[in-house]
Amino acid sequence: MSLDNVARIKPPTAEQFHESYVAKQRPVILRNLYRGQPISRLRTARAAEVSLGGQWMLTRRPLWDALHLGDEAHACQFRDYCHLIKEDPTLRMLCLDQIAPKRFRSRFRLPAYAKANPLESAVCNLFIGRKDLSSAIHFDADHRNVLFTQVFGRKRVVLIPPRFAKHLIPIENFSPIALHNYSEEEKRAFLRYVDAYDTILHPGETLYMPKLWWHYTEYLDFGMSFGLRLGRTPYDQIFSGLPQQYYLQNLCTTLVDAGTGCMNHPEALDEILMAFFARHSSPEKRYRRVMAVCKRLYSRHCVDSPKGEFVGRNFDLTLRFMRNKIPVLYDPPPFENRSPRELCTKRQRRQLERWARERPRRMKQVMRHLGLDSGNLKNLSELEALTMLMVRHAKVH
Ligand SMILES: [Fe+2]
Repeated sequence: MSLDNVARIKPPTAEQFHESYVAKQRPVILRNLYRGQPISRLRTARAAEVSLGGQWMLTRRPLWDALHLGDEAHACQFRDYCHLIKEDPTLRMLCLDQIAPKRFRSRFRLPAYAKANPLESAVCNLFIGRKDLSSAIHFDADHRNVLFTQVFGRKRVVLIPPRFAKHLIPIENFSPIALHNYSEEEKRAFLRYVDAYDTILHPGETLYMPKLWWHYTEYLDFGMSFGLRLGRTPYDQIFSGLPQQYYLQNLCTTLVDAGTGCMNHPEALDEILMAFFARHSSPEKRYRRVMAVCKRLYSRHCVDSPKGEFVGRNFDLTLRFMRNKIPVLYDPPPFENRSPRELCTKRQRRQLERWARERPRRMKQVMRHLGLDSGNLKNLSELEALTMLMVRHAKVH
């Protein structure tokens, strides 16, 4: 049924995993990563209902149906959802990417792979859905490597390398290709065309999904899975703060070395950040500038870049129905007097203050370039801008 082309292995040590899979951005399935732990005993819907029946979950429409992720969500208990899908097997609601509650997380111990990064901790997200639901083809904008574990039920998971963006007609981090409506034969032909990894995950199996890879999932049964989203390198954190598009996606996978976490061409980072954080007369101007810079860097650094654009001018955010996204995505708060998105933490502030002390000239230069008030580092956008420009001078391993 699937191409079944992902290797299944016994969980290796954290070092072997990093060297053979993370550094090479190669998908793999780990068998029984949580062997002997409470989560491994929830291998049927019935067992999960007995153990987690009172668990609250947020259900929403599948990404394919929803206009955006903020579409109405309904809270219900897990046992209510089990009951609802028995009553109405065509119900188009599921639990999608919800931060896993403590009660769920207490059912397993973090594997060594999730503790290897001292710079950022892993986060755990939950997915619960009935048989026959599927997702849209997309890549996750948070730039995290993911350990995706199937708790009960089977799920088909397709992974497509970032370089095939040009065959997916991307708009932001989504593809409008309706893979779920293809016949099995068409699906397999398409997946071969884009060098996809295609597998069926069974309960107890964990799929390593490299950051920024396109993915698509199908619930073959009523099922539950969770993603352990691993800590990122500082550069991945930085890039994830920018609006996502396919040029940036491919640049990030090429420029940030997945093994060492270092930037291959640090000057490219400055160019992108300057384009985004410099003053522009309108969000549209900022959007066009960022796209132009990313496109130029893409054709310089990504070896398989096509000659010229691969998505026509009429198929980007300037599309009539997408235009309203530009002011939202390309209007960073420090410049437009919007309310700050998130306060920076005390630790981040201390880090910035230390940089300001140790490299005052560089800090001043950066702040002047960005048009920021000195000492005013109140919100995350400013923090991101400064961190982004300072980070390559800091000792980061
Ligand atoms: Fe995703």
